[in-house]
Amino acid sequence: MTARAVVGLQWGDEGKGKIVDLLASRAQLVVRYQGGANAGHTVVVRGRRMVSHLVPSGAHHPGVECVIGAGVVLDPAALLDEIGQLREIGIDLAGRLWVSERAHVVFAYHKALDQLQDSAPGAARIGTTGRGIGPCYGDKVNRTGIRVADLYDEGVLASRLAASIAAANDRLVRAGREIFDLEATLAATRSLAERIRPHVCDAEERVAHAIRAGREVLFEGAQGTLLDVDLGTYPYVTSSNAGSGGIPSGTGLPLRVLDLCLGVTKAYATRVGEGPFPTELRDDVGSRLREVGREYGATTGRPRRCGWLDGVALRYAARVNGADGLAVMKLDCLSGFHPVKICRAYRIAGAESERFPAGLSALERAEPVYEELPGWDGDISRSRGIPELPSEARHFLSRTEEITGAPVTIVSVGPGREQTIEGRLR
Ligand code: GDP
Ligand code: IMO
Ligand code: MG
Repeated sequence: MTARAVVGLQWGDEGKGKIVDLLASRAQLVVRYQGGANAGHTVVVRGRRMVSHLVPSGAHHPGVECVIGAGVVLDPAALLDEIGQLREIGIDLAGRLWVSERAHVVFAYHKALDQLQDSAPGAARIGTTGRGIGPCYGDKVNRTGIRVADLYDEGVLASRLAASIAAANDRLVRAGREIFDLEATLAATRSLAERIRPHVCDAEERVAHAIRAGREVLFEGAQGTLLDVDLGTYPYVTSSNAGSGGIPSGTGLPLRVLDLCLGVTKAYATRVGEGPFPTELRDDVGSRLREVGREYGATTGRPRRCGWLDGVALRYAARVNGADGLAVMKLDCLSGFHPVKICRAYRIAGAESERFPAGLSALERAEPVYEELPGWDGDISRSRGIPELPSEARHFLSRTEEITGAPVTIVSVGPGREQTIEGRLR
């Protein structure tokens, strides 16, 4: 196996960071292909918790190269902050962090526009992370964006930035918000560009070369399939292709590149921000899941909405990603819940269906049809093999696998690297 992907199958925060860190011990390159600093990926190494937003989660393995691909939107200031924080704990990224010249740059005005759009009266509030992601991807598809390569071409940078700032200021001034000064932005941008310069390269060529040389490459998805701009619960999505479909376009590799796609899911479901969530629990059970699972955003600290595992959405996500296996995370958090539920179908306007609907109002009206399974008690965070798990937990995993149609290949019972069980259920 030379190229493997780790993608989220829900609405993000599935535990991708932990899985990428775990698998990175056997990889030589870890590549982010989409999203930006809206991601918050947690890695716990020897009890120390670290959250990365832009730097790939392979950073904690000294020999691993980390690549930020063409499909990512790069906030240079956020990247430099992260590099600095990692340096403080002894992790040096010099000579092993590579940023694509083709990635688009997130500017401060993108963040201001993001916050403006998401609070505009009359418009549907998405509940974005406020990291400028939507406006930056918007500029990219409108062909008005600025790419990393442009930062080193003074004429291009000055003229494109002048046009972008004028357009942004036009909107900001009408909303009574603070506007941006071209000269100050140019000066700040030049300084940031110099500081990231040692990391900038033709990252697409580098990854292609590594694959040709038979090196192990891991693609790290950010967000989750249900937040994918094409396949998610549109318009309550992010602005990139979070699923495995984002890999070829976000890295310049051919479709056939992947040897294996691992889909990551929690043993229950969470969502941050607005949008449909059929299995959401607005009761004590939901609050208990939030407390037990410490479901507060790694990027914004917002409380996450919690609910039961949605088998309908999971089967859909596994299919559209071509998931070869499932990593089921946070199984330890379900201990003590009686019963444990999995949604196996939706009832929409009186009719039962196992299909994940495209229409927003259908999803909003969908009532979950649950399968109730016996729960289990006790601390399972020290289990290191499937046979050590309570029989009820094993039954829950088999039903998850049957309902989803993809085999469970990893079970996670705690945030630490060692709190992981690898291997098939049977
Ligand atoms: P990501 O965005 O997909 O990387 O996930 P986040 O880092 O945003 O959120 C996952 C959270 O769950 C983090 O705080 C992890 O440390 C934690 N976590 C991951 N796996 C497990 C697990 O199996 N059990 C428990 N209790 N926590 C976990
Ligand atoms: P990781 O990689 C969970 C959500 C936001 C909002 C929507 C759009 O840690 O799983 P955006 O700022 O991207 O325009 O916001 O997407 N969102 C995430 N939710 N995990 C994430 O990343 C997310 N990144 C964005 O809450 O609903
Ligand atoms: Mg996260």
